[in-house]
Amino acid sequence: MRIIAVDNIEDMGEAAADLIIEKIISKPDCVLGLATGSTPLSLYIRLIRAYEQKTVSYKEVKSFNLDEYRGLEQDNPNSYHYYMKENLFKYIDILPENTYLPSGTMDADEAIRTYKELLKDHQIDIQVLGIGTNGHIGFNEPGVSFESSVHLVELDEQTIEDNSRYFESLDDVPKQAITMGIADIMAAKSIILMAGTENKKNALRCVLEGPVTDECPASILRKHKGLTIVALKNVLNEI
Ligand code: GLP
Repeated sequence: MRIIAVDNIEDMGEAAADLIIEKIISKPDCVLGLATGSTPLSLYIRLIRAYEQKTVSYKEVKSFNLDEYRGLEQDNPNSYHYYMKENLFKYIDILPENTYLPSGTMDADEAIRTYKELLKDHQIDIQVLGIGTNGHIGFNEPGVSFESSVHLVELDEQTIEDNSRYFESLDDVPKQAITMGIADIMAAKSIILMAGTENKKNALRCVLEGPVTDECPASILRKHKGLTIVALKNVLNEI
């Protein structure tokens, strides 16, 4: 694994963006795996800037998001469809038909089958990941099988609590989601794991030091040959 230690969130976004932009320049029709949450926002700001400065075009790029809450319409401000549109897609020239997320409203089996089919036909060149305080990646919660593909998840209490900051109340947080599985994530050619805040220290430690256990799903990333971790220096120093 490669570790890039940065001073602040802006530098974290820049380091991750540099890797992605380099890839798009060498392979304009590359496939990106994208993540939501607060951590990748600084990355998306850089990707937008690179488009505005004409350093890069996303016209041939395809993107696959990790996950989506069950039951939220695409125009619900808490849906990941909405997040991606508002924080990245509407500012760049990626074609809407080349951006994929699991459906939050289709029948769950149908949504899973559809997303699995799509992923079967596309190998992800670079997968961007944040990390949950409980070590989840995407919405792969503790106890998940490392062999899993796209599946329906009952969200962990910790995740519901962590993500409630975006909702009016704890009760408003969806209790289910559809997520790419660990096997889908591990199938990416390379992975950029971004870990920003102090509360991710324990989760990051299990990636850096192991052991590889489903109690901390992110620990499996240690086994990926193309893993780059971009993390804050002060968090890394405390591990
Ligand atoms: C959600 C997403 C994850 C993300 C995590 C951390 O649960 N499903 O993909 O990594 O949040 O979010 P944040 O970066 O806001 O801490």
